[in-house]
Amino acid sequence: MLETKYQTTAVIGSQWGDEGKGKITDYFAQNADVIVRWSGGDNAGHTIVFDNKKFKLSIIPSGIFNQKVTCVIANGCVVNLEKLVSEINYLKENGYSCENLKISDRAHIIFPYHSALDECQELARKEQAIGTTKKGIGPCYADKMNRVGIRIGDLLDKEEFVKKLTFNVEHKNKILKLVYNCQETFDVTKITDRIFNELLPQFQNYITDTRVLLDEKVKANQIVLFEGAQGSLLDLDHGTYPFVTSSHPIASSIATGTGLCLKAVTNIIGITKAYNTRVGEGVFPTEFEDEIARTIREVGNEYGTVSKRPRRIGWFDAVILKYSAEINGFTGLAIMLLDVLSGIKELKICTSYLLNNQEIKYVPSQIKNFAQCQPQFITMPGWTEDITKVTSFDQLPINAQNYLKKISELVGVPITMFSVGPNRTQTILVQ
Ligand code: IMP
Repeated sequence: MLETKYQTTAVIGSQWGDEGKGKITDYFAQNADVIVRWSGGDNAGHTIVFDNKKFKLSIIPSGIFNQKVTCVIANGCVVNLEKLVSEINYLKENGYSCENLKISDRAHIIFPYHSALDECQELARKEQAIGTTKKGIGPCYADKMNRVGIRIGDLLDKEEFVKKLTFNVEHKNKILKLVYNCQETFDVTKITDRIFNELLPQFQNYITDTRVLLDEKVKANQIVLFEGAQGSLLDLDHGTYPFVTSSHPIASSIATGTGLCLKAVTNIIGITKAYNTRVGEGVFPTEFEDEIARTIREVGNEYGTVSKRPRRIGWFDAVILKYSAEINGFTGLAIMLLDVLSGIKELKICTSYLLNNQEIKYVPSQIKNFAQCQPQFITMPGWTEDITKVTSFDQLPINAQNYLKKISELVGVPITMFSVGPNRTQTILVQ
């Protein structure tokens, strides 16, 4: 039986993704022994800045920059092999070895037909399009659920792999052609040759049963960090369905996504921006578009890491953060991009919604109801000072302190840290 006092921390996006998880992961990574991605694929985009250099990763855990850390892509992930190898090479070119990378033999593979299907499905949905990243995430997870997915471990038996791929390619080609009238079809030999001749040799040594590895590490009381991808409101069950991703970015899925038991996660840090953003379609109650929103977008560089799409901007929504805290069990909050709000005269915080003339403080399950929610705001005075050089909570202007305190009070979770700029040194711990 596992003891309850593990040194494990999960970094979880509390909104719709892009909260700055990469930065907080990188912060914790400096003391970690193991870093684990357990859900999603290269739809995630993590930006890590240090030593005046900017790195962008989509599938390899952000901890890869610390060479003594074991980085794990666990079974709950879906892996695009082209992207994996291109990131391995990108890291190598920048002087970072991937010898400390471990990839689960149970993780599923994203094939080119998944991306093609993603694209076709989005087109077919017309005005109901989800706004996916078109990386094939949904179709890959659908194959997993449908029990026709192909896993990383299948690469270790070429004959079996080809059998499975042949079934899938024939099936997908039919769907692409007959349902979607798509001209692009796929060829088993071409895919197999590319993988076995060019891609697999570059990561074969990293394939392992990561469940066994993680179980050993946790039991040995090593410091393990679970690096979240996407955000809680994109969770397939608890997010704003159907405008969600096809995996489970919330903390409880760490168990299924790694094979560790539920008790294995002790600290759960909810990452939130000091305001809200969203990419893709879907309801966003506190969204606004005016001069202030445009300023936030430019100052905060609110453009997708992966897709470069401009992000939608909204005022801070405490209802969403509280909901997120409840479904994840946050033990602390990390408030990101606080500096972006400097210079804004008045800051709004949404404290409840009005739905059919009734005040509610939760996210309704039906998207139709969520769309009708009118955010109820309180207004807090802003600050004009440059806060990018503060090194403690006490050094913040009083209005910034009050803004953070109000967020913590509304959500009922202490603030563990906040961030005032992209560099490692600009992440401040709250005592
Ligand atoms: P998919 O994950 O590509 O299927 O996209 C489904 C929805 O999740 C879309 O609205 C995407 O914009 C959103 N999404 C997926 N990954 C991320 C992410 O890492 N950050 C923000 N949004 C994401």
